[in-house]
Amino acid sequence: MATVPPRFAVSAAAPWLVLLLAVAALSFSVPVAEAAELVELTLLANAREKGAVCLDGSPPGYHLQRGFGSGEHSWIVNLEGGAWCNTTEDCSDRRLTDLGSSKFMKAIEFEGILSNERSQNPYFYNWNKVDIRYCDGGSFAGVADGKDRNGTKLFFRGLRIWEAVVDELMGKGLATAKQVLLSGCSSGGLAALLHCDDFRSRFPQEVPVKCLSDAGFFLDVKDLSGVRFMRSIFSGVVHLQNVGKVLPKDCIAQKDPTECFFPAQLIKGISTPTFIRNSGYDSYQVGNIVMPGGSDPGLSWSSCKADIRNCTSIQIEAMNGFRKKFVDDLIVARYKRDWGLFIDSCFNHCQTPFRISWHSRISLRLGNKTIAEAVADWYFGGGHGVKEIDCEYPCINPTCSSQLDL
Ligand SMILES: *[C@@H]1O[C@H](CO)[C@@H](O)[C@H](O)[C@H]1NC(C)=O
Ligand SMILES: *[C@@H]1O[C@H](CO)[C@@H](O)[C@H](O)[C@H]1NC(C)=O
Ligand SMILES: *[C@@H]1O[C@H](CO)[C@@H](O)[C@H](O)[C@H]1NC(C)=O
Ligand SMILES: *[C@@H]1O[C@H](CO)[C@@H](O)[C@H](O)[C@H]1NC(C)=O
Repeated sequence: MATVPPRFAVSAAAPWLVLLLAVAALSFSVPVAEAAELVELTLLANAREKGAVCLDGSPPGYHLQRGFGSGEHSWIVNLEGGAWCNTTEDCSDRRLTDLGSSKFMKAIEFEGILSNERSQNPYFYNWNKVDIRYCDGGSFAGVADGKDRNGTKLFFRGLRIWEAVVDELMGKGLATAKQVLLSGCSSGGLAALLHCDDFRSRFPQEVPVKCLSDAGFFLDVKDLSGVRFMRSIFSGVVHLQNVGKVLPKDCIAQKDPTECFFPAQLIKGISTPTFIRNSGYDSYQVGNIVMPGGSDPGLSWSSCKADIRNCTSIQIEAMNGFRKKFVDDLIVARYKRDWGLFIDSCFNHCQTPFRISWHSRISLRLGNKTIAEAVADWYFGGGHGVKEIDCEYPCINPTCSSQLDL
């Protein structure tokens, strides 16, 4: 079974959020935020006619909060994450959750990059904000149908969902946007890369459109037992869900389509200014790719996996090998002038969807900037990129509060 991390890794993050909140309350007297208002779920109109449905055939959904004041004509479109399903069994199981059916979706709170509070989201708070729910299990990329063991139909329609929801948003004001940002985290961060240029092409050339991928830079590396675990997941997704249509043509002309689903290949072809935010020691990738459960029979890595400070020197070497591959794969992005990079060395996964990590007094910083500040510098900076790459462990960035956790 493909490991299904919680959407944006919310539940995995819960213990550290609690811990951080406690630390925050003690040492910085950060005022405890009032609960943000709930943003209603909108179901896509005429979803069945458009063939744009969740795994179980239900209509997909999104949440839209209107912009105001100077942000009235600016838009953020965010793609929700939540790993992938790579087998019919996996995808069949998702139908009983909000990652496979809108029957289980509810109104949600917007925080971090989607917050409408100026203090937590100073540069984008008054923009129109959309969160597109993830219910296809294939990073909004597939176009296929399947059947589970019981003969029940399964729909792999991620690409249709993406297209139909964007079309519907166009009619709700997106078409006349003055500036736009496409974002996403984890499998949604991968989706933001997959759709970046296509999204850009829907707007007039003079409208700034940029893309932000948070924790979506998945690497094609071997785990401890020598297996390319991520490749086995992606291979299942690529074939089961038939994602070929969204892959860069140059890449699939030369390489295996599964390889072309990896960000290292995708970024070569993207011409829209893009910001890559990722940890060089991404906790999801370290936990699921470098050391997935089965690759570590003796569990000698579990303590290291749980807390980077508990790793032995050999383990650190393996993790630094992972970070090195990461930095190497990003070379293309380093040379793209108007791209942004924010590669920290704190052990974490998604950072844009949470108020604490996006922009707070205890957010991690690189170049003394929070992620929100770095993204704003890049977005509004008139073409000059922001390129921040943190140091290699055991150096410690003192703002890595998340090193305490996860
Ligand atoms: C699906 O992913 C799992 C890992 O979660 C992997 O072991 C398996 O080989 C993959 N199966 C297919 C058919 O891709
Ligand atoms: C499909 O069949 C399995 C047993 O083969 C059963 O456990 C499961 O509940 C069935 N699922 C549905 C949706 O009917
Ligand atoms: C890390 O090591 C310390 C000291 O050996 C130990 O008390 C702690 O439980 C370990 N942490 C984890 C997560 O294994
Ligand atoms: C870092 O930024 C904060 C607030 O943005 C500022 O108060 C502080 O002086 C800066 N520190 C350094 C070392 O530049």
